[in-house]
Order: sequence, then C-alpha cells, then structure tokens
Amino acid sequence: MFNSKISGLGMYVPENVVTNHDLSKIMDTSNEWIVERTGIKERRHIKKGDGNSTMMMGVKAAKIAIERAGISKKDIDLILFSTLSPDYYFPGSGVLVQDKLEIPTCPAMDIRNQCSGFIYAVATADQFIKSGMYKNILVIGSENHSGGLDFSTRGRAVTVIFGDGAGAAVISREENKKKGILSSHLHSEGKFAKELSLIGPSTNRWVPEIIDANNPEDTSYYPFMNGQLVFKNAVVRFSEVILEGLNHNGLDPKDIDLLIPHQANLRISQFVQKRFGLSDNQVLNNIQKYGNTTAGSIPIALTEAWEQGKIKSGNVIVLAAFGSGFTWGSTIIKW
Ligand code: UT7
Repeated sequence: MFNSKISGLGMYVPENVVTNHDLSKIMDTSNEWIVERTGIKERRHIKKGDGNSTMMMGVKAAKIAIERAGISKKDIDLILFSTLSPDYYFPGSGVLVQDKLEIPTCPAMDIRNQCSGFIYAVATADQFIKSGMYKNILVIGSENHSGGLDFSTRGRAVTVIFGDGAGAAVISREENKKKGILSSHLHSEGKFAKELSLIGPSTNRWVPEIIDANNPEDTSYYPFMNGQLVFKNAVVRFSEVILEGLNHNGLDPKDIDLLIPHQANLRISQFVQKRFGLSDNQVLNNIQKYGNTTAGSIPIALTEAWEQGKIKSGNVIVLAAFGSGFTWGSTIIKW
C-alpha cells in the first residue's frame, strides 16, 4: 500500500473580468446586493473568440500543474475531469484533454459531481494510487458557466454568482504513509436533485421538444437554484463533513492550518469559520475575485494558496465542498 499526495498545482481563469457594476448595466441588480449577500466583487467570463472552453481552460491549468509536479505528460496514468459544463454532451472533456496534451493513449474519466466534483475526483485518484494501480493522476476541475446563464433580470439570483475558470492537480504516489492525502469523505442526497439543477436539454427533455414548445417562459435550459434551501443545507453539511474528516484522523479544528472550502458564498465560509472558531488566516476565500467556479473553485483556491506560500510541509489542509445533487465531501491532507 502506498499513500498519495498532491505533487503539482495549476490554475487558469479567462482574462475577461466582469464586475458587479458590469452586471448591473444589463440586469436589475447592484454591487451592494451582490457583495452583501455573496461577497463576490467580480468574476471571469470567457469571451467569444478568446479560444477558451471548459477543456481548454483545464488544459492550461493542467500544463502548469504537470510542470510543477516535475513530471512529463507521458507519465500521466489517468485523467479525471470534473465539470458540470462539459464541452460536449458526450464524449466527456477528459478525452479532449488527453488529445490536446498529445498523450498517445491513457484512460480518461469525467466526474459529474458539480461543486463537489474536485473532492470526488481527488478521492477517486487517491484510491487508484493507494491500490498501486497508477502512479500519477491528472485531476482537473473546470467550468464554462457564462455561456449558459440567463443574463436577464429573471436569472439574476443565479447568474451573479457563477464564474468561469479551471484548476488542476497532479496526484502522485507517496511512500511516506504519514504524509499526503489522509482520507476522503463523500456523501449525496438525491432527493434534492432538482433544487440545484439544469434539467433541459436532457434525455427527459430533448432539444426538439424545447424548440417545438417555442415558449419564451421556458427556463429549463438555464440553471435553477433554490438558493435559501441550498444555503441552509450547505452550512450544516459543510460543518458535518469537516468534522467527520477531522474525527477520522484524530484531529481537532484547532489543528487545521488551512481550510479551503468550495467558494459557494462568502457567508457560507464565514459561518463555517465561526462554527469551528478558526482565524482569518486558517480559511482561504477568493470568491471575491472569481465568483463560484463550481468544480474549478477548490483547485483554483488551492493553487493560489500554494503560490502565496500559505501551504507548508507538514501543514494540515482541509478541503470541503457542498453543491448540486446534493453532494458534499471533504479531504484531509498532511502536506
Ligand atoms: O455552489 C453551489 C451551492 N450554491 C450555494 O451555496 C448558494 C446558496 N445560496 C445563496 O448563496 C443565496 O441563497 C443567494 C445568494 C443565491 C441568494 O441570497 P438570499 O439572501 O437567499 O436571497 P433571496 O433569494 O431570498 O432573495 C432576496 C431578494 C428577493 O427579492 P424580494 O422577493 O425579497 O423582493 C430576490 O428577488 O433579493 C432579490 N434578488 C436580487 N436582488 C438584486 C435575488 N437576486 C438578486 C440580485 N440582485 N442578483
């Protein structure tokens, strides 16, 4: 049995910055409302013609992560791509990454767990490495939200929150059993599936049906979110799953060097911070700059934390996420 560790990190966000003021020019919203309710000041949106897509942003983040891991792309044994906004309905974006990176052949899998996607992907990578099957796994979280949001006032409660971007991590074999990814804790509760969802187009609502209905009131092809219900569940599940991970490893909240929560809403992160009595230095928030980038949010935040020297050898790093499904999970790492 081996352990696994994060050996390289990278991120990419599009250059195009969209501020709250920009949004308030095209829908009935305000900088004050968005900052007060979510903490977000700006986000990045892909611009038509800038060459970005979910896969392309993932590739840009991945190239940095692979270089920092000190390996060659030929050493990648498996690609795990987490997203809710894949380039195509099928095939998944993982195979597109394999092609773009010019890796002759390797297994590639898409993980469809929305905001918890990166946590699920890291848990999957961890198991493949602990079993001895693979040595280096490329894990990507990437989202292109901006192409599919409702930019009229009707969609404002959802649209102001989400941003585009990607993060990537190389997960590699670690011989020291006391270091690396200590454990992962995963959950889902499908009875809430529709409370944060995009249900059409789908196999329940094919494109011709939507076109034939020709109904301007039809919003089934935009994301739907029951914001307050999601918020209430998020604060409970974040707290539970962080505690579950700490308890499993005989750790206490005060042992956390850095908590990196999925960047859903600054108020959710602040609630969790208060619940565990953590200082500002123990919790990473960058939602102010990027909004909620769903599967991209944790690897982007993790990369920034690492680049800023906030992660040191021996640190206890806790990752936690909650989102559509509902799904949620945590990862406990000894860096
Ligand atoms: O990452 C996946 C997980 N997602 C989350 O964790 C999101 C969790 N939920 C939330 O973050 C919050 O529920 C939101 C930020 C989405 C919404 O905040 P809220 O405090 O729950 O607002 P609300 O939906 O209850 O709406 C309050 C008011 C409404 O107006 P009335 O009915 O009180 O007149 C909305 O129409 O705010 C209005 N509103 C807005 N006003 C200005 C909703 N969106 C906007 C907006 N700008 N963008």
